[in-house]
Amino acid sequence: MSNTSRNEERTEANEAQIAVHWKEEQYFQPSQSFIDQANLRDPDVRTRFGEDNFPDCFREYADLLTWSKPYHTVLDTSHPPFWKWFTGGELNACYNCVDRHLEHYRNKAAFIFVAEPESDAPVAMTYQELYVRVNEMAALLRDFCGLKKGDRVTLHLPMTLDLPITMLACARLGVIHSQVFGGFSGQSCGSRIQDSGSRVLISTDAYWRSGKLIDHKVNADIAVQAAEALGQHVDQVLIWQRYPGKYSSPTPMVEGRDHFVNELLKQYAGRRVEPEAMDAEAPLFLMYSSGTTGKPKGCQHRTGGYLAYVAGTSKYIEDIHPTDTYWCMADIGWITGHSYIVYGPLLLAATSVIYEGTPTFPDVRRPWRIAERLGVNIFHTSPTAVRALRRAGPDEPSQCQQRFKHMTTVGEPIEPSAWRWYYEEVGKSQAVIVDTWWQTENGGFLCSTIPALDAMKPGSAGPALPGIYPVIYDDDGNEVAKGAGQAGNLCIRNPWPGIMQTVWGNDQRFIDTYYKRYCKNPDSTDWRDWPYMSGDGAMQAADGYFRILGRLDDVINVSGHRLGTKEIESACMTVPEVAEAAVVPVSDEVKGKVPEVYVSLTPDARDPAAAARKVVQACESIIGKIARPEHVYVVQDMPKTRSGKIMRRVLSAISNGRDVGDITTLANGSVVEDIRTQVDSARAAARKP
Ligand code: WT7
Repeated sequence: MSNTSRNEERTEANEAQIAVHWKEEQYFQPSQSFIDQANLRDPDVRTRFGEDNFPDCFREYADLLTWSKPYHTVLDTSHPPFWKWFTGGELNACYNCVDRHLEHYRNKAAFIFVAEPESDAPVAMTYQELYVRVNEMAALLRDFCGLKKGDRVTLHLPMTLDLPITMLACARLGVIHSQVFGGFSGQSCGSRIQDSGSRVLISTDAYWRSGKLIDHKVNADIAVQAAEALGQHVDQVLIWQRYPGKYSSPTPMVEGRDHFVNELLKQYAGRRVEPEAMDAEAPLFLMYSSGTTGKPKGCQHRTGGYLAYVAGTSKYIEDIHPTDTYWCMADIGWITGHSYIVYGPLLLAATSVIYEGTPTFPDVRRPWRIAERLGVNIFHTSPTAVRALRRAGPDEPSQCQQRFKHMTTVGEPIEPSAWRWYYEEVGKSQAVIVDTWWQTENGGFLCSTIPALDAMKPGSAGPALPGIYPVIYDDDGNEVAKGAGQAGNLCIRNPWPGIMQTVWGNDQRFIDTYYKRYCKNPDSTDWRDWPYMSGDGAMQAADGYFRILGRLDDVINVSGHRLGTKEIESACMTVPEVAEAAVVPVSDEVKGKVPEVYVSLTPDARDPAAAARKVVQACESIIGKIARPEHVYVVQDMPKTRSGKIMRRVLSAISNGRDVGDITTLANGSVVEDIRTQVDSARAAARKP
């Protein structure tokens, strides 16, 4: 790691240390009625999953699956950090999610789809119907597209039933799906098509968002073009129609390349496809995630370990029973949706709700009406959604009859006041809350309370999950003791079944990003020498609960999702007038953090305001609306070190209204005051009515 980034990290850790002086919160206890029905009530679980029983403890999770061939080894550590889980075993993800439930749950709803327009009644899809649809889609993918085991397919789908049907059809064939968040731009999708080497793109014509039927087909064209420019040819584009039989996009279909899925499916009516027996280590899917460098990483998740881990955590932490109606209000395009809308709930034969639209459409009571109408009893969302719903409608949840036994928060730290509103107003002081900490790389939850066994503490993610052994290291690799009141780098000492296998096509990046920094001995095949580095700052209280303080690296967590600062800076740099760009995270009341952009322009740039507008546009079209900068400041000069590095730390301090600290090492210290004056006056102007 370079010296500058080490220094930046130190600064962040110091801020983190300020944060730990927050007062300790009081505990909240789960209700007796929740405890009485919980899947996990046996406190012995912590011993069962203790280090003495590692890795065999995870057999308990593997037993939740149906294996077509039993595994012979729980964990193979012969080639660290490329762990192998449940080796020798074979299974099929789709069989486990669908086929095996037909005997008992054939006509129980697997999914309930809620369209954004409230005039459209919810649609329940039974396990039997899902089985039929997935088989027909698998037949199409195999026979029309010629896809087979190990091929990659990129999906760029919004939140409708077409998405899980497509994912499960891929899984049935052993095809690796790579779903790109529907809100990402066509260009983002294109670079992921290229990286994964997909020759088939599956998309849709349109979907509803905030009351508008959005043209999505246009993104498929941009994606194919972008992939092509990067050297990856796409020969088939499959388009699901939002309203089958009707084309809802103004963008023309491309003759010979584009096909309507629902048209093609007619040829495959009633077809059945045998689920492929997949090696436990066969990749199930890719999920791209932002890192510190410009290029998103394809997090490659395995079949056996991943499914075992999401089944176990869905059962014990989400407390899902087959009789539950469970609603995770995330997007399937993020890992949360893969693990806890599709795979986890289906593995447990639950009913999982899929909502197409914005939580606040047509009004902020919408989520509570949906929950009441469908009888949702487990609810899962992010602090961003909690803050937004609270701000716009603090009394709305009490106007509805939703009755949750269990609620989840995930993606960012939740401040205690937002937690209390969630608990008292949304959960009516009846529901237990789990604050689950994990990452795209992790497959499933790593820290959380066990809902029937542990007290809740607002603002803390709770202790480690069973079988997870975290440690906090300082910058020099010393362990920070619990209760020390000191923050550091949160790491996990051991491998677990949900951990990603590698970065798609880039083993070295996997090692460098997660294992290099704290590896004790690169020649060792003992997992104890290979702690996993999360990149998050955290502190552990005396009671063992972790308080997550946020990213220590150049990553901005916007609404619970990671964006790389370098990724956004590269987007800014595509504007010809921009000479230099620096992106910093700024605290935001609703979204947690938002990006602010500083740019300096080339000498011949004439119109700074126009350049700033182009920067915003570039971020939106290259990455997606989620990356939209809150402000773009066009500055005369960037604060720089003598070696010419932009001091993002100084810009970040200005953006967040903090003291800039020591700037004596800057080559051009005088620009700092100019920039601060500029930022302050821009802010003041923005606040004027
Ligand atoms: C980053 C991972 C997998 C969840 C969806 C986001 C932050 C996640 C919490 C939490 C505080 C949290 C971390 C982490 N984060 N959960 N409960 N409390 N922070 O997945 O996009 O991979 O982001 O989200 O900073 O590193 P992701």
